[in-house]
Amino acid sequence: MDKNRIVIFDTTLRDGEQCPGASMNLKEKMSVAHQLSRLGVDVIEAGFPVISDGDFKAVHQIASEVERSRIAGLARCVPRDIEAAGKAVEPAGDRGRIHVFLATSRIHREHKLGKAQDQILKLATDGVAQARSMVTDVEFSPEDASRTEPEFLIEVCRAAIEAGATTLNIPDTVGFAVPQQYFELISTLHDNIEEFQNGKAIISVHCHNDLGLAVANSLAAIRGGARQIECTINGIGERAGNAALEEVVMALKTRQDFFGEFNVGINTREIVKTSRLVARMSGLSVQRSKAIVGENAFAHSSGIHQDGILKKRETYEIIDPEEVGWGSTELPLTKHSGRAAVAARLKHLGYKVTEEDVATIFKRFKEVGDKKKFVYDDDLAAIVEGHITEVPETWKLEYLNVTSGTDTIPTATVKISRVDAEKKSVHRMQDAGVGDGPVDAALKAIDRLTKTRGKLMNYNIRAVSQGKDALGEVNIQADFGDGKLIPGRGAGTDIVEASARAYLNAVNRHLYNERQRTMKEAASETP
Ligand code: KIV
Ligand code: ZN
Repeated sequence: MDKNRIVIFDTTLRDGEQCPGASMNLKEKMSVAHQLSRLGVDVIEAGFPVISDGDFKAVHQIASEVERSRIAGLARCVPRDIEAAGKAVEPAGDRGRIHVFLATSRIHREHKLGKAQDQILKLATDGVAQARSMVTDVEFSPEDASRTEPEFLIEVCRAAIEAGATTLNIPDTVGFAVPQQYFELISTLHDNIEEFQNGKAIISVHCHNDLGLAVANSLAAIRGGARQIECTINGIGERAGNAALEEVVMALKTRQDFFGEFNVGINTREIVKTSRLVARMSGLSVQRSKAIVGENAFAHSSGIHQDGILKKRETYEIIDPEEVGWGSTELPLTKHSGRAAVAARLKHLGYKVTEEDVATIFKRFKEVGDKKKFVYDDDLAAIVEGHITEVPETWKLEYLNVTSGTDTIPTATVKISRVDAEKKSVHRMQDAGVGDGPVDAALKAIDRLTKTRGKLMNYNIRAVSQGKDALGEVNIQADFGDGKLIPGRGAGTDIVEASARAYLNAVNRHLYNERQRTMKEAASETP
């Protein structure tokens, strides 16, 4: 491989998904994985297979379906973890990678693991060797590497390479590093380990953003000899997140005068689309002023700047927005658009949907199209959300009418329906509720109808597209009495309707979880 090629290792579906509130279901993960491959990432870390059946299934399906990129599964240095990761990535054949990790810093050795250096060395080499017996591509991460004694780190890296690892990741697990010091650490490893010089192994970096330095540290590491960058879309990840892929890539591309010889295989025109898809699928919206992908990243408000841009774009813009996919939105759809056009647009936006999903989404699209002149891509994406979940839509909103004002008691009339697949019939129910406001009244009526009692813990509303007829998108979290926060999303041209849809989405998730729990309990009681 070209010695100046920087391998982009995306961990949105693993470290990104560890971000509180970011958990994605299988369909959402599949959409993201396919889009990451279109973006051109070299390695997709698809999950941590041993931690749950859901994670195993996701990694396995991504390894079965996603072409081109390498597919990695994470494992601790524990035999059953490595076995699960090996099985999960198996369908990817020789594109499958097992990523094993074990903490090496003194603080982790003494307080978390209770192990001495020689025990760590043994566990690490045993883990790598076991992984190597299952796949040819093994990555090893000495967790908390940036706080590990450099001499011990060199020893660990040498031992892991000897045991069969070809990628040695040096994580800044707690975001403690600063660029110059991290550069020196990576340079020291590079200069002391022959395999990094002769290309038999490469150094990878994985930086967390606790001090806001994840991207700066990653870039410094490249100059120290790192050839793989671990990053996530929009910088999502554990705590303050990971290095943002779009920032690392665009820094390398934009500052070729400085980074000249290094190159990446990313199709930058897919960046904005990928960012939006991940924001929607993870429920973590992007800060407006976020570099590259934030709404304001290319918005110039001052007159002086606008004047300069009009005279010559480069006066105030260091990147052509089209280069990262801004401004490439298609013509908006309208209520006259057919099902095939909607299906094609969903595909273009990166959604992986079944025929059945398209049918449900199309029905909602028509309802929205009746109220709105144009259905923009963002509107369509907001409509999709509630529908590409694995949770069946037990209850559907059929009708909502609210009365509220300065001198009336807010009242809501709600009609919902439930499909009985066995009896091939639809059961409809209607009730009314009063509340402190129209949203409260609507949710109370839904509680009565569905016999649930949810407490709204978080409520967020935003306009999806622009203009007075913009769709409102509501994200909520509700507690149905067991202390768990159940998310719900909904969109509509009316904010009370969007709120009712979001709440019903959470109710359906709660009811589904309850059914799953009852079924598990019944199965465990069966002799
Ligand atoms: O931050 C970290 O150290 C990790 C490892 C598992 C690579 O995520
Ligand atoms: Zn991490």
